[in-house]
Amino acid sequence: MSEDQPRMVLLRVFRYRSGDEAPRYDEFRVPIGPRTTVLDALLGVRRLQDPTLTLRHSCLHASCGTCGMRVNGREVLACVTRLDGLGDRVVVEPLAGAPVVGDLVVDMEGFYRRLGPSGRPLVRASEQAAPELPDLERFEDCIECGLCLSACPVAATDPRYLGPAALAAAGRLLEEPRGADPAAVLGWVDDAHGAWRCHVAFECSEVCPAGVEPAGAIMGLRRRLLRDRLSRLAGLHDREARP
Ligand code: SF4
Ligand code: FES
Repeated sequence: MSEDQPRMVLLRVFRYRSGDEAPRYDEFRVPIGPRTTVLDALLGVRRLQDPTLTLRHSCLHASCGTCGMRVNGREVLACVTRLDGLGDRVVVEPLAGAPVVGDLVVDMEGFYRRLGPSGRPLVRASEQAAPELPDLERFEDCIECGLCLSACPVAATDPRYLGPAALAAAGRLLEEPRGADPAAVLGWVDDAHGAWRCHVAFECSEVCPAGVEPAGAIMGLRRRLLRDRLSRLAGLHDREARP
């Protein structure tokens, strides 16, 4: 290969759409440069090789959270993941644990449903796209990409697990309730499928592209729940010890 020829990478891309008997993988050879991202390459495939490839993106700069997928088995934002350094064969798959809508696009309804009980809507009022939407507000830092839920080994086996992003949102609510009821938040997470279900794998914090560190938030929730229990027990003990 001469120096001015681009390096070629083989993308092995998960394909599935409603009605297919089973998923399959299609292979595409793509030219890459040192700054080519996975999303660049997939958009190139769609433009030049297969216009039916389904994927989702918006901002192109790690801010909207819509381009989450697994690349060589790891949850990433495709728009900021460079192909250089990932090898000559790269496997691209949708996020895990959510129904596939088409190819690399999953249904995020389960992710958003988990966040619902926080009572904290998702997008800042100032970011509201349409006035007819209900009053929405964003949990700071989290870009709602769902990478943490896809990477979480507990979520993979327990569909009722609240999951890292929702628990991190709960932790943030306790820090700054802004109208939320802390007792209700604690009641929500103090559950076998809540803060206690985490196995401390820390995969969520590993993959989070926004520095939320959900695992640390979950450990903080546990400490708070234990502290509250101990002070309730101490109060009970004091009352019983009174003559
Ligand atoms: S906590 Fe991090 S990984 Fe999880 S949805 Fe929010 S930004 Fe994404
Ligand atoms: S396209 Fe917005 S985060 Fe990747």
